[in-house]
Amino acid sequence: MDIGKIQSELASDLDSAISADGVQKLRTRYLGRKGRLNELRKTLDWSALSDEQRRRAGMEFNGIKARIEKEIADRFAAIKTIGDGGEAIDVTLPVKRNSAGSLHPITLIQLELEDILRGMGFMVLQGFEVETEYYNFDALNTPRNHPARDMQDTFWLENGSVLRTHTSANQVRTLEAYPPPVRAVFPGRCFRNEATDASHENTFYQMEGLFVDHEVSISHLIAVMTSLLNRIFHKTAKIRLRPGFFPFVEPGFELDIECLICGGRGCPTCKQSGWVELMPCGLVHPSVIKFGGLDPLQWRGFAFGLGMTRLAMMKYGIADIRAFNSGDIRFAEQFPAFI
Ligand code: FA5
Repeated sequence: MDIGKIQSELASDLDSAISADGVQKLRTRYLGRKGRLNELRKTLDWSALSDEQRRRAGMEFNGIKARIEKEIADRFAAIKTIGDGGEAIDVTLPVKRNSAGSLHPITLIQLELEDILRGMGFMVLQGFEVETEYYNFDALNTPRNHPARDMQDTFWLENGSVLRTHTSANQVRTLEAYPPPVRAVFPGRCFRNEATDASHENTFYQMEGLFVDHEVSISHLIAVMTSLLNRIFHKTAKIRLRPGFFPFVEPGFELDIECLICGGRGCPTCKQSGWVELMPCGLVHPSVIKFGGLDPLQWRGFAFGLGMTRLAMMKYGIADIRAFNSGDIRFAEQFPAFI
């Protein structure tokens, strides 16, 4: 028996002692006449020690005894017994929070979008975060040296793959895998070599939508996008559509939403413009239909690239996009655990 062993036994005995009675018994077990500490004291050959050694050993034992006394007394003070059952409840102890955790706002908005879009007949697909240059650029009508490649500063891997810059990278993969007519959305994480600010991150989420059928027009595109946003905001969202260039759609549009952080007055989130670029879109370019192995005279389509992180900012009133990846528990805790 050594003092280390006594102390670790005491710690576990104290942990499992849940009544004043139980703690009282520990006092006898450890500090009583026939207790652990005295047993240890007896194992020492005191006669073999010099006066000085005896004095030191005595002091050490007294110190250990005082520590054990204190630990037992602290445990005793922390316990109030109820009835004879020995059940212990100390009403003065701080409440132990039993947190159920919370869903990240990106998860919340994604689940909500998927639910609405499934209701419109879209299937939900997964793409790849590490993509080939072909699907991220070439198959989207953006060959090497095309000036539009400059719109997206890209992280290249040593093997020539890229961290996908947009979920559009899954468009041609979808056309190859699913015979038309096809309605699909593909949510996911995208990466760009961006200087970050209140509305730009290097890692953010988009949700792509692709609708290919025989007769598809801009009216279909606008109907799907407006009803999607109205359902997300539970009111008529204020949006504007303006021409926008993307090599994989023709015609192409930028869909902006009125900034809900400042109500359109202008703030750092919307770069003082009152509008937030949210969801570029357009009719699928015939070359992309061809890259997907389909005849562009037979098949037409629309596509949109919803900025899911920015949508979450608007929906939940998050003024700075950098909060999403901050790992700050105070940010995460504000969101519910269930929907
Ligand atoms: C695209 O990524 C196109 N692939 C969208 C598209 C799809 C056009 C289908 C036509 C047809 P853009 O680079 O504008 O476009 O990004 C789309 C949306 O993603 C933006 O409106 C914005 O909401 C979001 N986004 C883009 N870059 C960032 C960033 N750095 N941080 C946060 N959100 C971003």
